[in-house]
Amino acid sequence: MDQNEAKLLAARAAIDELPPRGIIGLGSGSTAKLFVDEVGARVAAGADYRGVPTSKGTRAQAEALGIPLLPDEDGWGEIAVTVDGADEVDEHLNLIKGGGGALTREKIVNDASRRNVIIVDETKIKRRLGETWAVPVEVLRFGFSHARDALGKLGKVRVRAREGEAFVTDAGNFIVDVTTGPIEDPLALDRAMRDIPGVVETGLFVSRASLVIVAGRTGITRLEPKKK
Ligand code: 5RP
Repeated sequence: MDQNEAKLLAARAAIDELPPRGIIGLGSGSTAKLFVDEVGARVAAGADYRGVPTSKGTRAQAEALGIPLLPDEDGWGEIAVTVDGADEVDEHLNLIKGGGGALTREKIVNDASRRNVIIVDETKIKRRLGETWAVPVEVLRFGFSHARDALGKLGKVRVRAREGEAFVTDAGNFIVDVTTGPIEDPLALDRAMRDIPGVVETGLFVSRASLVIVAGRTGITRLEPKKK
């Protein structure tokens, strides 16, 4: 099974986690995109879902599939389940997200959801966060270099670029990718980053997964956080 097949397997398995009807969060990225396709097929077959998309890209995809969507600004109430991807998952099911730059909307939708189902292929599973990925941090443009330099005290910083230009998020901000190496305490790092004025949000999702569906050579594995 290659990585794309694994992503599809995980996306399809997540459909079983949806309620029969109601409000659902729609993640961003290539794995979540496969899930949104599956939701589109269910809606076309008559399922009564309303979606809250986590990026402009996901909104466009969902609209094209005919999935009814709630406005970005309000009226969500409690989202029953959000299904989203991740870049890294550690042994405690903490996550690095934001490879696609949608981390802020993804974290808001995650926070507004009763359950958060994360779908990944097995390459994303690491003992500790930061082993292979940098932490994406969304930063306001105003005073950008100040926030970037402050983040530079927490790791090696790189301003994300696309086609030679600074990458701009859906909210009009920049992304700084902070390479830290393996992270001992993701919560402390998240707080230290968010303490910097101008930092909008980080891609560290600590204790925010209700279930991680991992697809790989042996099929599907379901990981749930240990009860405290
Ligand atoms: C986007 C995200 C994605 O969910 C994450 O980058 C995983 O993407 P993919 O499924 O393409 O590997 O956080 O901001």
